[in-house]
Amino acid sequence: MTAKPIIITLDGWSSCGKSTLAKALAKELGYVFVDSGAMYRAVTLYLLRNDIDIANEQQVQQALTKIELGFVFNPARGASDILLNGENVESLIREMKVAEQVSKVATLSAVRKFAVQQQQRLGAAKGIVMDGRDIGTVVFPQAELKIFMTADRETRVRRRYLELAATDPGISEEAVRENLARRDYMDANREESPLRQAPDAKVLDNTNLSPEEQFKIALLWAREAIG
Ligand code: CDP
Repeated sequence: MTAKPIIITLDGWSSCGKSTLAKALAKELGYVFVDSGAMYRAVTLYLLRNDIDIANEQQVQQALTKIELGFVFNPARGASDILLNGENVESLIREMKVAEQVSKVATLSAVRKFAVQQQQRLGAAKGIVMDGRDIGTVVFPQAELKIFMTADRETRVRRRYLELAATDPGISEEAVRENLARRDYMDANREESPLRQAPDAKVLDNTNLSPEEQFKIALLWAREAIG
């Protein structure tokens, strides 16, 4: 008998390696990996490009009706790239311009509703690993395995700085530090679906773990949960 597919959620602070782990777990288990943050980033890119005033609820609502998100598997990354109205925007959404606005956009109720509905649809057949901030608490509170990831702030700053500097040599470590601090604060303190550890989540602090070490721990948990 083949094991029944489950839902694995990975929530936690910005730049603590959630996507790296989610991708590796999905690959090992033959599951789908969904980066929910990419959805908030793609919505943000659309709002920026179209000069939408995010303080104007009606304008935002209207804009959301014009947004279609999709995913296309990119074999080079071993993960799906996000499509915004058919355009592959995977690298554009990683730019600082988007990072600076995304957490404000993610506080908007209409935006969250829009994203959560699609996330729940993507997980309907289970066999999914999804990372984000509210996946184990709001999107899939019934998930069989919930992981809450954390690492100390300076470690996260260093990791994200090196990642961004690879494509943007002009980036400063201080700008990355400020951005992470601001996003951590906004994500944890917003009214709707703030970043919280689900009571039944397993905590993974990877400050001193290599990607391989964190993968081994999470895979053990996943195998236990799959049964
Ligand atoms: O990769 P990084 O940790 O920098 O962030 P991300 O996962 O790409 O998410 C970008 C932003 O989207 C976060 O800082 C949150 O403000 C928001 N987000 C959210 O509110 N809920 C989620 N499920 C995922 C992301």
